[in-house]
Amino acid sequence: MALKNHFQYLCIAFLLISKFLTSQASTRQLPELSMLERHEKWMAQHGRVYKDAQEKMKRFEIFTDNVQKIEAFNAGPDQGYKLGVNAFADMNDEEFQASLNGYKRQEPEMMSALEHEHFRYTNVRNVPKTLDWRKKGAVTPVKDQGLVCGSCWAFSAVAAMEGINQIKTGKLVSLSEQEIMDCDKKDGSCSGGDMDTAFEFVIKSRGLATESNYPYKGEYGVCDTKKASKAAVRITGYEKVPANNETALLQAVAHQPVSVGVDASSFDSRFYSNGVLIGGCGTKKLDHGVTVVGYGKTKGGTKYWIVKNSWGEYWGENGYLRIKRGVSAKEGLCGIAMEASYPIVEGMKD
Ligand SMILES: *[C@@H]1O[C@H](CO)[C@@H](O)[C@H](O)[C@H]1NC(C)=O
Repeated sequence: MALKNHFQYLCIAFLLISKFLTSQASTRQLPELSMLERHEKWMAQHGRVYKDAQEKMKRFEIFTDNVQKIEAFNAGPDQGYKLGVNAFADMNDEEFQASLNGYKRQEPEMMSALEHEHFRYTNVRNVPKTLDWRKKGAVTPVKDQGLVCGSCWAFSAVAAMEGINQIKTGKLVSLSEQEIMDCDKKDGSCSGGDMDTAFEFVIKSRGLATESNYPYKGEYGVCDTKKASKAAVRITGYEKVPANNETALLQAVAHQPVSVGVDASSFDSRFYSNGVLIGGCGTKKLDHGVTVVGYGKTKGGTKYWIVKNSWGEYWGENGYLRIKRGVSAKEGLCGIAMEASYPIVEGMKD
C-alpha cells in the first residue's frame, strides 16, 4: 500500500516536472526540448512526414546539428550574409548533394564546341552600372525543382530562354522544364544534365512548350510528343561566355540572363538566407545550374551577381541569391564564371 502510494507520488511528481520542463522550453532555457518543438514546427511547415520513430530520431539529430551550425554562423563575425533554417535542414551533406545537385557537364563534341565559341558581346563597352532583368520583366517567378530531383540544369536553361524570349518579343512566357527532362535523351532528367545540351535539344526540336501546357512533375517521365509539338518559344542557337572571365560574363548579363554552373554543395550555399555570399564554396566541382539575372553593388561597395535559383521562393532572398562579383580568382566565386552560356534568337519570323 505504502509502496503504491509512493509510486503514485513519483508519477505525479514526474508529470509536474515535465510540465515545468515544457513551460521552460518555450522560454528557450532548455535547448533539447525547444529543439524538439522547433523540429515539429519545421516538419509541419514543410509538410515533412517520417516513416517511423527511428527515422524521425535520425532526422531530428541531423536537424539539430544543422540548426546549431546555422546559429553559430549567424552569431559569429558579420560576413555580409546570413544563413537560415530552410527545407534542407533535415538532410546531411551527402543526401543533399545526391538529391539536388544535378549539373553534369557533358563533354562537348569538337565541332559543336568550336561552333559555340563565338562571343558576340566581346566588344561591348559601357555596360550599365547595375542591372536587374526582373525589373525589366524578363524573369518568371521562382520555380521549385523539388527535394528529390536533380533537374536544376533544365531550370537554368529554361530561365535563360524565358529571358531572351521576353527581350526579343516583349512577352514573358513561362516554359517547360519537364519537356526537356522527358524528351531530351542526351540529358538525364532528375539524375542531372547540362544547360548547353538542353539548348541544343530546344534548337533541334524547334521550340519548347509552355509550363502550363507541359507542367513540371519533378520526376522521370515519358516524352509527351503531342504536348511537346506545341512549341511556344524557339531559339536558334547558343554561345559560351569565354571561361574564367567575369568581365565577359558581365558583358553577356548586360544583354540577357545567362546560365551558369556553380559549386552549391557547401553548407553556406545550401542554407544561404540573405546578403551577399562572399565565400564558403569552392570551384572544384560545379554541381548546380542556375541563372544570372542581373548584377549590382551594395551600399558598402560589395559588387554582386543576382542569381535565380530553383529551390522555391522560400529559399534565400525570395528564391534568389546574391553572390560576390569581381573576385580575385578568375573562376569567380563558387566558379560562377567557369561554365556560362546563353541562348540566341536570330532571324526568325512568326
Ligand atoms: C575577358 O574578356 C574581355 C572581353 O570579353 C577581354 O577583353 C579580355 O581580354 C578577357 N580577359 C582575359 C584574361 O582573357
